[in-house]
Amino acid sequence: MMPLHHLRAGVIGTGFIGPVHIEALKRLGVQVTAICGSTKRAKATADQWGIPEVYGDYDYEAMFGSPNIDVVHITSPNRVHVAQSLAALKAGKHVVCEKPLGMNTRETAKLVKAAAKSDRVFAVNYMCRFFPAVLQMRALVQRGELGKIMHVQGHFFQDWLMKDTDYNWRLLASEGGKLRAVGDIGTHWIDAVSFVLGTRAESVFAALETFHKTRKRPKGEVQTFAKVDPAKMVPFEVDTEDFASVLLKYGTADHGYASGVHANCAVSQVAAGWKCSLYMGIYGTEGSVQWDFQQPNEIIVGRRDQPNQILQRNTAGFSDDIANFTDNPGGHPEGFPDSHKMHSRAVYEHIASGKKTPLLFATAEDGHHEVELCEAILKSSTTRKWVSI
Ligand SMILES: NC(=O)c1ccc[n+]([C@@H]2O[C@H](COP(=O)([O-])OP(=O)(O)OC[C@H]3O[C@@H](n4cnc5c(N)ncnc54)[C@H](O)[C@@H]3O)[C@@H](O)[C@H]2O)c1
Repeated sequence: MMPLHHLRAGVIGTGFIGPVHIEALKRLGVQVTAICGSTKRAKATADQWGIPEVYGDYDYEAMFGSPNIDVVHITSPNRVHVAQSLAALKAGKHVVCEKPLGMNTRETAKLVKAAAKSDRVFAVNYMCRFFPAVLQMRALVQRGELGKIMHVQGHFFQDWLMKDTDYNWRLLASEGGKLRAVGDIGTHWIDAVSFVLGTRAESVFAALETFHKTRKRPKGEVQTFAKVDPAKMVPFEVDTEDFASVLLKYGTADHGYASGVHANCAVSQVAAGWKCSLYMGIYGTEGSVQWDFQQPNEIIVGRRDQPNQILQRNTAGFSDDIANFTDNPGGHPEGFPDSHKMHSRAVYEHIASGKKTPLLFATAEDGHHEVELCEAILKSSTTRKWVSI
């Protein structure tokens, strides 16, 4: 396989997650050759990280013309993901696009077609798949160690949008899509559960709630997690949900240990005290397994007639086949930045090997499926009926 440092990346977006991508790539030895964003922030980011090519004024087309980029990372707001992804594929680049893949299935369907026609690799950054704990949960399920999976329960809770003065572009349907909490974080949960089970959600029943029907916003735009003086804010009507309660029914997995699994998930961005808690518990006929994003280095395996076990990353309880996705010894914690690094490792090794490594990351089809689920969840909440995908 070609060494990863032969591959060169261009990153669009300089906000919260763009630099997380840059750091992950640098830790892998991938060259970051170009950055695109607002003129001021692109220049500042290039200066900070030593990135040679700078494309200001959000001029991504100019960046795609560079011969020094193999892979484009799209870390801009959701509204521009599809246009930027289509243009990157057209320019012959491999693409890593942030989630959610797009604003609606009309546009994401176009991307599925374009990615299928192209010989490039297209990945959607559902990087929760690459926590070693999640890979281990998947291995436990797919080897039948929990028996037949019956049900899954969990949540994705945050509190950074709890107050009516907390503002981000995600609150506006025109910027982030009609579903906010579900699109932004709920799809991470649904994708991670699909990955662990080895099958997708096929039908949903949901209730959505917007607790803050009016919020206050600053006059200009602000970066994610930035603090703004409430005295300098103006009121606006909120057209996206703060909370969702979702029931899902999953399909049949090829390995035979998951079929028609029931799942229930609560999603909230107004849950005081929870900063970023993606929790899932998987319950089978022989045992269960639980994990929380905020305690990412361990999983709890539950048994009815034997003692429960806490399995720690990179110790005896974790299997050898996931060793490529953890670099530090047990007891030396890995977390959120490492999950981005491991996601990029999976994508770049797939590219460097000529697509010979297992396809573990989310594809354009997986990203499209999550947007389909968002639309089904909205429809179910409006009609108060189960909706099939
Ligand atoms: N996978 C994850 O864990 C994760 C975490 C956070 C965000 N995200 C996703 O990453 C994306 C960005 O989120 P964020 O939190 O970094 O937002 P942010 O607001 O902090 O940053 C967005 C950046 O995009 C730039 N931008 C705005 N319009 C642009 C355009 N037309 N072209 C290029 N750049 C443009 C902004 O200047 C800003 O630098 C979103 O799609 C979000 O869902 C994913």
